[in-house]
Amino acid sequence: MARSTSSNTWLREHVNDQYVQMAKKDGYRARAAYKLLEINEKDKLIRPGTVLADLGSAPGSWSQVAARIVGPQGKVFALDILPMNPIADVDFIQGDFREDEVLAEFVDLLDGRALDLVISDMAPNISGMSAMDQARSFLLCELALEFARDHLKPGGCFLVKVFQGSDFQPYLQSMRDLFDEVVTRKPKASRDRSSEIYLLGKGRR
Ligand SMILES: C[S@@+](CC[C@H](N)C(=O)[O-])C[C@H]1O[C@@H](n2cnc3c(N)ncnc32)[C@H](O)[C@@H]1O
Repeated sequence: MARSTSSNTWLREHVNDQYVQMAKKDGYRARAAYKLLEINEKDKLIRPGTVLADLGSAPGSWSQVAARIVGPQGKVFALDILPMNPIADVDFIQGDFREDEVLAEFVDLLDGRALDLVISDMAPNISGMSAMDQARSFLLCELALEFARDHLKPGGCFLVKVFQGSDFQPYLQSMRDLFDEVVTRKPKASRDRSSEIYLLGKGRR
């Protein structure tokens, strides 16, 4: 079947994208790696010894970045609704984060370890930013924040991808209630036309 014009445009942009080329060269599974690397360069969230959870981890580039930095004293726990090929020193479970049993299984995996950091790049399959997409996306953000509230050490940090929309301000407020400081980040690898932005909560109270 012939490809639509928009999927052809996407394919052409993707192939020519400098971050796609860099990811291939550096051995990362997705261009998203460079978003986390840029944020980490600025905010020093991941260091040797950091224990963290990566929510919405597949195909795995954020987990790859994290595992390379945390080293043997740290730990990366990862979860996605999709399968993810194994990454050395990353403990992964596959499941839907909205389901209580999946959350319980993930919490078991942590084995009582409190986290220094939660990173969430979760995003539902977007059909075109309709009100329903917005609602589904914010549900994942809410659940990730709840998880951070329950499992971060005092002083811990939370990085979450959000899409700017009507839920943004109340969500920002709930982050401000939990963290000493909340900042926004729009790394260069995040496409300008995307309404995605990252919120970073620093210093869980
Ligand atoms: C943008 S991708 C993440 C890319 C990843 N950070 C990386 O660097 O490879 C968003 C991910 O969120 C996951 N996701 C969406 N809804 C989910 C859910 N309900 N539970 C768990 N993961 C979910 C998707 O399957 C997808 O893999």
